Amino acid sequence: MMSAIPPPPSIPPGAPRPPAPPCAAPASAQGEAGLAGLCVGLVGCGHMGGALARGWVRAGLVAPGRLLLTARASAPALAAELGARAVGLGALLEGADVVVLAVKPQQLEGLRFPPLARAGGPLWVSALAGTTLAALARALPSPPGAPPRVARAMPNLPAQVGLGATLLCAPPEGAPGALSAGERAVVSALFGAVGLAEWLPSEELMHAGTALAGCGPAYCFIAAEALADAGVLLGLPRALAQRLAAQTLYGSGALALTAHPAALKDGVTSPGGVTIAGVRALEQRAFRAALIEAVAAAAERSVALAGARPDPSPPPPSPAPPRS
Ligand SMILES: NC(=O)c1ccc[n+]([C@@H]2O[C@H](COP(=O)([O-])OP(=O)(O)OC[C@H]3O[C@@H](n4cnc5c(N)ncnc54)[C@H](OP(=O)(O)O)[C@@H]3O)[C@@H](O)[C@H]2O)c1
Repeated sequence: MMSAIPPPPSIPPGAPRPPAPPCAAPASAQGEAGLAGLCVGLVGCGHMGGALARGWVRAGLVAPGRLLLTARASAPALAAELGARAVGLGALLEGADVVVLAVKPQQLEGLRFPPLARAGGPLWVSALAGTTLAALARALPSPPGAPPRVARAMPNLPAQVGLGATLLCAPPEGAPGALSAGERAVVSALFGAVGLAEWLPSEELMHAGTALAGCGPAYCFIAAEALADAGVLLGLPRALAQRLAAQTLYGSGALALTAHPAALKDGVTSPGGVTIAGVRALEQRAFRAALIEAVAAAAERSVALAGARPDPSPPPPSPAPPRS
């Protein structure tokens, strides 16, 4: 697991970089330690893809010259910002050792993967919410006779500021398409660059993890808004109330990574004091139960949507091996 809080950005936003050399240049020539010189391809440069690419370059995990980007229209701008290369899907598949998919789930069908021109095939990592490993294995190209090696990642919105919580899963050891320990480490590093990255023991738990960490930011935003409203009710200026609410959630979250939340809560509730009076009001209004029900309802919805989602079309067949 990587550090939860990555170092601050070193690339000024919007500062253009010179175009990078082709990805095929040897890693040593580019002075990269990161992912042992692997070339990373990113398909989709929107909110999540952009956050990932910026996180990788900022953390020094992927040298810009070893980052290939594809999107419908936005790849050249992100490539210029990071010093990476915007290429077509075919060139990306030819050059990348690891391909990270960050298009919308319904856009997967629109990707026209050319047949794989090289042996082995890349390691695939999908950030597509709700698209299962089985559906990905059917949709992604792989060398003849071998299933694609694919992991699923479920990042959350705070990945955009390097403070994400990402859930990872892959086929179990020994199953078709299972990842090696080294490949799992690569996936952990890619998502550790934008926050916390944790492997789940089974894909089924992605629904629970999504309901907690994927949807959790929405619950926290509601809490931040309500706390700010309370501050305004009591006379604080709106902007100050919002900053206080956000910083209180941010700081409390950081502390809750270091100790049990119940112990931290006990530490700030002195007998007969102010905070315990507020806790009583929360308990009277079933605050805990409301959060538990919110996560359970989101998980139920995630399961229902997964059952209703049509499978993406399979890729075109790989070319037949040449006759001898
Ligand atoms: N945003 C989040 O906080 C978040 C959290 C968890 C999971 N996710 C997952 O991350 C994925 C991306 O979400 P997002 O919010 O980043 O979406 P987004 O901002 O709409 O980005 C989608 C990207 O896909 C590209 N794209 C669409 N069709 C394409 C095609 N045929 N060929 C190449 N590129 C194509 C788009 O290109 P253009 O930019 O050129 O239009 C865009 O860069 C989704 O599957 C979502 O479930 C997102």
